[in-house]
Amino acid sequence: MSEVVERWGSRRAFIIAVTGAAVGLGNIWRFPWMTGENGGAAFLMLYVVFLVLLGLPVMIAEIMIGRAGRRTPIQALTHLARDAGKSRHWGWLGLFCGVTLFFILSFYSVVSGWSIEYLVDALSGHFASQSPQEIGSAFDAFLASPGRVLFNHTLFLFLTMSVVALGVGGGLERLNNLLMPLLYLLLVLLVGYAFTTSGFTAALAWLFMPDLSALTPMAIFNAMGHAFFTLAVGAGALMTYGAYMPDDQSLPRAVVTVAILDVAVALMAGIAIFSIVFSQNMAPDSGPGLMFVTLPIAFADLPGGALWLGAFFVLLLLATWTSSINLAEPMVAMLGSLGMARWLAAVLIGVGVWLMGLPSALSFSIWSDVRPFGDMTLFDLATTLPIDIMLPIGGLLIAFFAAWVMEGTRASMAIGAGERFYRHWRAVVRWVSIPLLVVVLVGFFLS
Ligand code: PHE
Repeated sequence: MSEVVERWGSRRAFIIAVTGAAVGLGNIWRFPWMTGENGGAAFLMLYVVFLVLLGLPVMIAEIMIGRAGRRTPIQALTHLARDAGKSRHWGWLGLFCGVTLFFILSFYSVVSGWSIEYLVDALSGHFASQSPQEIGSAFDAFLASPGRVLFNHTLFLFLTMSVVALGVGGGLERLNNLLMPLLYLLLVLLVGYAFTTSGFTAALAWLFMPDLSALTPMAIFNAMGHAFFTLAVGAGALMTYGAYMPDDQSLPRAVVTVAILDVAVALMAGIAIFSIVFSQNMAPDSGPGLMFVTLPIAFADLPGGALWLGAFFVLLLLATWTSSINLAEPMVAMLGSLGMARWLAAVLIGVGVWLMGLPSALSFSIWSDVRPFGDMTLFDLATTLPIDIMLPIGGLLIAFFAAWVMEGTRASMAIGAGERFYRHWRAVVRWVSIPLLVVVLVGFFLS
């Protein structure tokens, strides 16, 4: 495949597009869940450390590879490795990224399906008359019903793969970019509401006053995986964005802006959700249902709550819809480069992802007792494997490629922030990010 020649129209366009890939379920659903499960502020602190030492440097590495290669991941890696006189087997890293995207999309689609259910429930005024306890048990009852969960998973995946098959992702992305500020606005509104609740101070203490005894090996491991997941780093998705990045744009400035926005969205969601947790005397470690149980309670309290909650889920779904298109697109492109028709590739990937989503979808009902490793449910496995294991391994290899394999001058030009910055970045990746990643991964496998 030849080099791509199109470029993003402006510097802002690149930042908005990457923010679109970064902001999604990771910020609003998984961040509060993980923070609640791993002791609050201690987790947040670790996550920020990993974001700075691993997330940002590897994000630069990943976009840089795309920008220097100006091709899809497999081809960019093969091409850059060959130009540097290194093994063309580096192309396999692109395939590994594709497998990671496949696993991520499988549970992403199931959870986005939960949002479809909640959108319909919200608009039908279902939550308005319910007590917090009823809202909590309604979520469990929904998850325990395989038919409803599967229906929504199927619907969401169908919507995603149709857009990919028809190749109209660009239009949807523009709509997403246009509407995302509204999602941020709703979050600001929620934080304003949180301020009026009795749990607000407790939420701030929970999020910002670390209890270092909460730093378990699992917390460290989850925080590292989450730093990759939330920035959409480690699965090659951002290489594609890099391929369209204008030559004169500074990469570090762009990624720092994206990371700040990404953390801001997560923090707003966290403040809103934990204020409700503490004012309702709920447990912060209520698992993956945390967002789905707390937000309806918050909105039920506001005038016109059903509509606001509906609007929230519409915007969240739009965000997850575009994120999942970003997850699916590179896989379909990869099959396409083998000569397969686009629609056929989309159907095959869609069917594969649907099947792969079954363990997540049924983990809370008919397969709730299936626990192959310790007490982890199938849902825990389906999220932990790609997020906490595959993304960091992919990130490690991407970082290694960018800092040790690629030609220095090419890499330096692709960063677009001068030779000095490139040297600093390379030193950080070589002597901080890569060793840290290896230590945490090895430590986890040994523990
Ligand atoms: N960053 C996205 C989120 O937070 C998820 C994602 C991961 C998207 C990897 C693309 C690639 O929801």
